[in-house]
Amino acid sequence: MRLKGAGHMAIVALRILPFIGHVYALDLDVNSQESIKDAGSTAAYNMMTWYKQNGTDNPGFISRSWWTGAALFLACLNYWHATNDTTYNEDVSIGLQHQGGAGGDYMPSWAIGVGNDDQMFWGLAAITAAEYKFPNRPSGDTWLTLAEGVFNDQKSSDGKGWDTTICGGGLRWQKEIWQSGYTMKNAVSNGGFFMLAARLAWYTQEEEYATWAEKVWDWSTSVNLVNNETWAVADSVRQGTGGPNGCTLPDHTRWTYNYGTYLSGAGYMYAYTNDTKWLDITNNLLDSLFTTFFLPEHGGVITDWRCEAVGQCYKDANGPLFKGLTVSWLSDIALIIPSLREKILPKLQVSAEGAAKSCTGDGKDLCGNRWYGGYDGQNSMENAISGSQMMSAVMLKFLGSSSKPVSTATGGNGSSDPNAGTRGEVGICCVASYHNGR
Ligand SMILES: *[C@@H]1O[C@H](CO)[C@@H](O)[C@H](O)[C@H]1NC(C)=O
Ligand SMILES: *[C@@H]1O[C@H](CO)[C@@H](O)[C@H](O)[C@H]1NC(C)=O
Ligand SMILES: *[C@@H]1O[C@H](CO)[C@@H](O)[C@H](O)[C@H]1NC(C)=O
Ligand SMILES: *[C@@H]1O[C@H](CO)[C@@H](O)[C@H](O)[C@H]1NC(C)=O
Ligand SMILES: *[C@@H]1O[C@H](CO)[C@@H](O)[C@H](O)[C@H]1NC(C)=O
Repeated sequence: MRLKGAGHMAIVALRILPFIGHVYALDLDVNSQESIKDAGSTAAYNMMTWYKQNGTDNPGFISRSWWTGAALFLACLNYWHATNDTTYNEDVSIGLQHQGGAGGDYMPSWAIGVGNDDQMFWGLAAITAAEYKFPNRPSGDTWLTLAEGVFNDQKSSDGKGWDTTICGGGLRWQKEIWQSGYTMKNAVSNGGFFMLAARLAWYTQEEEYATWAEKVWDWSTSVNLVNNETWAVADSVRQGTGGPNGCTLPDHTRWTYNYGTYLSGAGYMYAYTNDTKWLDITNNLLDSLFTTFFLPEHGGVITDWRCEAVGQCYKDANGPLFKGLTVSWLSDIALIIPSLREKILPKLQVSAEGAAKSCTGDGKDLCGNRWYGGYDGQNSMENAISGSQMMSAVMLKFLGSSSKPVSTATGGNGSSDPNAGTRGEVGICCVASYHNGR
């Protein structure tokens, strides 16, 4: 079933196989571009069967977990970037802009109790669209505006963004005081904000973003969310005792995406500054990610073992998304910093091969949660998203300089509204336009 060494006829035959119903596994030869495209197409199709909100009055709104929409659109952007297949682009474009809301900062009126991490993932989707030269919509906010809107909202000291009242700085997990996570400062919110700031610095070449990235990094190491000696990344800290800055010692639950946010942010900081300090950090976090999650007992396949081993990722709508995000950031960082490609690609290939062998579900090659040991029966939107992310990420081998993410220095669209994220507070113009316009 594998394409390796096959001639053109075999490729044609393989392409029609899905229509006659093959039941084995996602056919994947990681050394064949055509094969990855086919596997990617199947995985993306399976993923998009879950998306029903295009054409509704709230496109992009996924009620079971609002940020899942951001994860879905990120996967679609990565699929398009890896394959040039535009099938899902219009759905993505409509939903990604709409969820930005009137403020252009992904705090739409219909999303109640947004966490800093939820908002951040939408900001990452927007900056990804900008970096991939995803066409802006004919009207409304640009992708860059939407990414800046999230940044502006998160840097503000209004009690919902950057907060120095506990633990000496950092973003709280939740923005709203009535949510229990308000007392917590977690890695993914802060690592994600760090990454967003670093990517905005690289994209726009504006120093303010880099200054913020440095600040988030320094705070994260100061409370040991990131340990800059062992390169372990913790999950969260809270107000308390035992750690520095009036904080507790960190909760050491390990998740792939916590590592992924910080290592990707450090990579963009290196690309922006050329300072080898950031390259060293990127390499240290990469090594730490690989030894923590790409374990020999799972054939070297990436594993969020904390929930996978006990089959619990499925019950939590979020857990299955983490490793899909992480592999997509690995692929991007290898494009941004070509010298890391040889280190990253083999890890992606082993994981993709594992996933392909395990994505055998329901006669449709559905991906489950675990990417080792066969299909685990865990059919869900989140697992389908990560399956698609994996197939796109392994295209890295075939992506050349024309696929490198762009900045405004290399053709990226720099038009934006610098007031995004503060528009709701600036007075008559914008409140009025909110009521009139929407
Ligand atoms: C999504 O909705 C837009 C606008 O209604 C439409 O142009 C597009 O074709 C839709 N996409 C799909 C896949 O149906
Ligand atoms: C997609 O298009 C780019 C730019 O034209 C090209 O470099 C790349 O090889 C294409 N990718 C695929 C998978 O065809
Ligand atoms: C950048 O995006 C804006 C807003 O959509 C658009 O008006 C402008 O033409 C774009 N610029 C380029 C060079 O594509
Ligand atoms: C490690 O982090 C601590 C706390 O932020 C900082 O004081 C120290 O300078 C850092 N070490 C290096 C080598 O950057
Ligand atoms: C970093 O290096 C690149 C490539 O050599 C160069 O274009 C860029 O100006 C440098 N940036 C800084 C801040 O030195």
